[in-house]
Amino acid sequence: MSLDNAATKPHERMQAALGPDLIAVDALIRARMASKHAPRIPEVTAHLVEAGGKRVRPMLTLAAAKLCGYEGDAHHKLAATVEFIHTATLLHDDVVDESQKRRGRPTANLLWDNKSSVLVGDYLFARAFQLMVEPGNLRVLSILSNAAAVIAEGEVLQLSAAMNIATSEDTYLQVIRGKTAALFEAACEVGGVIAERPEAEVRALAVYGDGLGIAFQMADDLLDWGGSDGVIGKNTGDDFRERKLTLPVIRAIARADETERAFWQRTIEKGDQQEGDLDHALALLRRHGTLDETRSEAFGWSARAQEALTVLPDHPLRDMMHDLADYVVARLA
Ligand code: IPE
Ligand code: IPE
Ligand code: MG
Ligand code: MG
Repeated sequence: MSLDNAATKPHERMQAALGPDLIAVDALIRARMASKHAPRIPEVTAHLVEAGGKRVRPMLTLAAAKLCGYEGDAHHKLAATVEFIHTATLLHDDVVDESQKRRGRPTANLLWDNKSSVLVGDYLFARAFQLMVEPGNLRVLSILSNAAAVIAEGEVLQLSAAMNIATSEDTYLQVIRGKTAALFEAACEVGGVIAERPEAEVRALAVYGDGLGIAFQMADDLLDWGGSDGVIGKNTGDDFRERKLTLPVIRAIARADETERAFWQRTIEKGDQQEGDLDHALALLRRHGTLDETRSEAFGWSARAQEALTVLPDHPLRDMMHDLADYVVARLA
């Protein structure tokens, strides 16, 4: 590994490797997030888009297409589609979660209002659908439109599982597969489809995206208990306050004694939270070792993603995808 490689993060290396393609995708995003008639739209979208974001999902689409030898330009539209779906879900998610910080900035729901976030999110979804049709590939259209439905389904399932301390690990997995992994999976898969690669390779890209997405969300759920605001650009303790059942909590509840169970019932089921409860919850997770266990689970999904890559053509971008799977969980180490 060169010094240069050691010093940069895999998604930054990917960004460098995809230079001109990413510039084209960014130009498309800017062109399509505009609106002639409703100035509120570019105000809100510019706020989010200019805050950056890592652009991991569109980079995966570009990387998958290129490592598969794709030489056309439909991957730009597909990558922009993926980022639009992502941005739309973030706008909606921050309303649902009543979040105040996103990408290190105040959320749109805080700066404007919930109504603007919901409607501009809808606009971005609609723009995503316009974009995904343009390459004229029915299979790609099916994959991306399916992902959009599965994401919404995951968010709704999470909503109904919240506050329910009987939520199972299976439900948790279904939630994160839906709300997060489905888009990673689709982002990777469409790259292989557009390049017309053999089915086994398309499947491998989907499995990689699924594993990466699950590992990524498990890491995010862990960071909610430990990452500092400055590092993740979001508030910590949000999930506990929202009474959201993530893996470390589900496992700690499964092993709770009577007193601990009463604590979870009061804070998560009834929503009666007082000063010091967040710290106490954290202490319980530590007592039962469920933060470390969640980290191991995340490593497992990341390894599974990496394994899937082995059937794909040998390519520097494939190596970066491999390293990205390490990175999403390494931020936990
Ligand atoms: C945030 O995703 C939403 C989750 C699935 C946890 P990212 O961390 O990829 O968000 P940006 O686009 O880089 O801000
Ligand atoms: C991420 O979900 C948003 C979607 C994947 C739709 P979360 O609510 O868990 O993520 P953050 O913490 O707000 O980014
Ligand atoms: Mg959220
Ligand atoms: Mg959420």
